Parts: sequence; C-alpha cells; structure tokens
Amino acid sequence: MEDSHASARTTGLGAQLLRRKPVDDIVTDSGRGEGGALRRTLGLRQLTMISVGATLGTGIFVVLGEAVPLAGPAVALAFVFAGITALLSALSYAELAGMIPVAGSSYSYAYATLGELVAWICGWCLILEYGVSVAAVAVGWGQYVNELLRLTLGVALPDALSAPPGDGGVVNLPAAVVVVLAMVALLGGAKESARVNSAMVLIKTVTLVLFCALAFAAVRDGNFSPFLPLGLGGVSAAGAKVFFSYIGFDAASTAGAEARAPQRDLPRAIMLSLGVVTVLYCLVSLAAVGAMHWTRFAGTEAALSKVLGGHAGSVLLSVGAVVAVASVVLAVLYGQTRVLFAMSRDGLVPKLFSRVNPRTGVPSANTVIVAGFIAVLAAVVPLGDLADATSIGTLFAFALVNVAVLVLRRTRPDLPRTFRAPFAPVTPILGVASCGWMMASLAAPTWIAFGGWMLVGLVVYFAYGRRHSALAHRCATQVTEDNDSPVVS
Ligand code: ALA
Repeated sequence: MEDSHASARTTGLGAQLLRRKPVDDIVTDSGRGEGGALRRTLGLRQLTMISVGATLGTGIFVVLGEAVPLAGPAVALAFVFAGITALLSALSYAELAGMIPVAGSSYSYAYATLGELVAWICGWCLILEYGVSVAAVAVGWGQYVNELLRLTLGVALPDALSAPPGDGGVVNLPAAVVVVLAMVALLGGAKESARVNSAMVLIKTVTLVLFCALAFAAVRDGNFSPFLPLGLGGVSAAGAKVFFSYIGFDAASTAGAEARAPQRDLPRAIMLSLGVVTVLYCLVSLAAVGAMHWTRFAGTEAALSKVLGGHAGSVLLSVGAVVAVASVVLAVLYGQTRVLFAMSRDGLVPKLFSRVNPRTGVPSANTVIVAGFIAVLAAVVPLGDLADATSIGTLFAFALVNVAVLVLRRTRPDLPRTFRAPFAPVTPILGVASCGWMMASLAAPTWIAFGGWMLVGLVVYFAYGRRHSALAHRCATQVTEDNDSPVVS
C-alpha cells in the first residue's frame, strides 16, 4: 500500500499513469457518492440472480441460431469451449470480488493492481461489455417481440420501425423501448429492481426448462449424425460466436457496494451463476439440434421458437424470451451505471455520475444519461456489429482481471481471500491465453473499431481523467503536507 502512495508522490508522467489506489482505500470509498451512499441491500440470492439475469438472454435465444450453421449438431461443444474460457476468468473474478468487494468490477481491481491508466482502459472496455452489450441485447429483444406479434395477432412491426438504418429500416423502436423500461425500473432503487430481476430470471429459467422438455420429446436420432459435419474448426468458430452468451456472469461484481456480505457472497454468486447458465446452454443447444435438423437454422430469426414449430409452445417460448432478454437489459444497464459510478467517485469521469438520490439510493442522473445514450445506440446500430464490439471489449477486460490476480498474488499475498482460484498461477495464465485466442478469432473490422474506441478513450483520459483524478489530488495534498512538516533533527 505504501508503495502506491510513494509512487504517486513522484510527479513524473510515468508515475502518474502507474499510480495505484490502495486496496484498503478502494474498499472504504466504494459506495460513497455525491450526496449519499449506495445501500447494502443485496444477499446471495439476489446477487446470483443479477449475474444470471445479465447472462441468460440474446445469446441462447438468438445467437444460438447463428452458431448452429457453423458447428452443426456439435454446437453444444461450442458452448462447452466458450464456457471453459468463461470459467477460467470467472475463477479470477471470484478471487478478486471476494478480496476487493466494491462497486466497479474489474475497473476497481485494475486500479488496485495495474495503475490508473490500465484501470481507465479497463473501465473504457467495460463500457463495451456493459453499455454496448445492452444495446446489442435490446436489438435481439425486438426479434422476439415481432415473433410474438406475428404468432398471436398475425402482424409484425414494419421494418422501418423495427430495424436500424444498416439493416433496411429507419429506427429500431422496440430496442429503444426496452432500454427505457429498464431505466424506469432501475430508478426505483437497487432492491426494487433486484426484485423485478429475480422474477424475470425465474420466468426465463422455467421457459428454457420447458423448451428442453418439449424439444427433447421431439428429438430425431438422425439429426445428430454426422455430429461434426464441419469439423473442429466449425466448433471453434461457433465457440467464439456463442461466447457472447456468457457475457454478464461477472455482473454481480459490479454490485459489491450494495451487497450485504460481499466477501462471502460475491465469489459464490459468480460461480453459481456460471454453473447454472452452462448447464442450461448445453441442454438447450442439444435439444434444439435434436429436434430441428441443423441445416434448417441458417437465416432463421427467433430460432428457438422455430424449433418448437407448434403454436402454443412457440407462443410460450416467445413470451419467455421477451421477458428473458428484458431482464438482461435491466441487469446489464445496472452494471454499467455502477462501473461509471466507481469511475466518477475516483474523479476519472464527471461527478454527476456518482450523485446519489438520497430518497432512492440510486445514482439517478447517471442512470438517465446512460440509458438515453444506449437507447439511441440500440435504435440505430445493427446487432452483429454491436455483439462483436461487445465481445472484444469484454475479452480484454477479462484478460486484465486474470493479470490482476497474478499481480496481487505476488504483491499482496497477505490480503485475506475468501475464494482462491485453484491451481493459480496456471488458471489465470490459461485465462489470459484463452481470452487472447478468442480475441484473435474476431474479424479485422472489429479490431479496427476496437482500436478506434481505445484511441478515443486515451484522448478522454488525458484531456479529463488524469487532471481530475481524486487519487492524484489526494497524493498531491500529501506531498504538500510532507513538505510543510518541520524537519526533526
Ligand atoms: N450474455 C448476454 C446475452 O446473451 C449478453 O444476452
């Protein structure tokens, strides 16, 4: 700890960029905002529900349909591969969340270990993981709303109102609407939105279990052979695609400042939620390709509804999907506001983002600004572009979390850890490698967009964050006090 103060006292640019926030300060500051503090109201069940809520959605209900043509019946293996990548990073998240149980997730972990600049980069990537993924998920919501309208009323929204400009429409209205609905729920308070989220998680889990029951009953043996029509290369490509469906398991780690017993509950919530979604994903994908021949998935929208084919089952499934995807929007939007809360409390983004409404205990201005921005994004940008941008940012943030575990095991072996990643340093090293491998499989335009995003992030940091950093001010004050103190001879 002393080392971080010492490094920040040095005024050189390098030392400024590398200044680290002492772990103990991060924990003390965690929930304090302008005008009030976040409230500790969430237990293990709600935290697990936040992570499952943020995870189970467009990936399994929509992106599965795009992955089947790549892998054939072996698509379940793609979910296993992507799940292993997620697991390696989840172990690191669990270790850090138990140790540094604060709002802000990997941004806060990076601030404690890798310095302010890397923390900023991490926070900037989290905007891709959370902010941009809400927009991507909201776009998937529109597909099932349309499917439901078609099945029940025989109508569908015109393309002009249900697709963005790049996809033959003008504006994706349902996508913007679901973001605004989630914003309204979030403004009510963390406990209240956690309650809404828990109800929705229950509905989506039951829907997927029901889907499995109906689809397994319709399985035809022939649909499974050949099992690997496109080889392991196809499975790997599908794995990179369905990685999107695991994004969000770490959402509980953004709620550290609102958890009742964060040290104990955050690691458990992260591991539990990953376990639940992995089992569901493998069962659902097996049932889907068992019931509908894999070649029929290409080009389908609302794929799981098509698998059931029959009217009643498809309607139920579509209702479940509409609820499921809405809950992802809610939980992920929550995560984004809390990451910005942490960055604002540290002075790296304007104070407005950490102003807490004293009546509800919610960062209200933050919530409204973030939702407004995301609603516009969801309304005008196509899903595929958004999903890929989300994945690359998430993978980079995951890699940093694995590095943070390696650093803290060396620099702070004394800190109490309520969860230890087993077989470290092997697991975090494999975690970094698997994230790098997945990033490498994303297309060149995604990398270019990522590079552009990072460049903008650096400009914002040097123009604003570096000058307003609360840690810099704290350290500067300390230097002045040190210089003013009388020298005792
Ligand atoms: N994992 C989230 C979803 O699939 C982003 O919707």
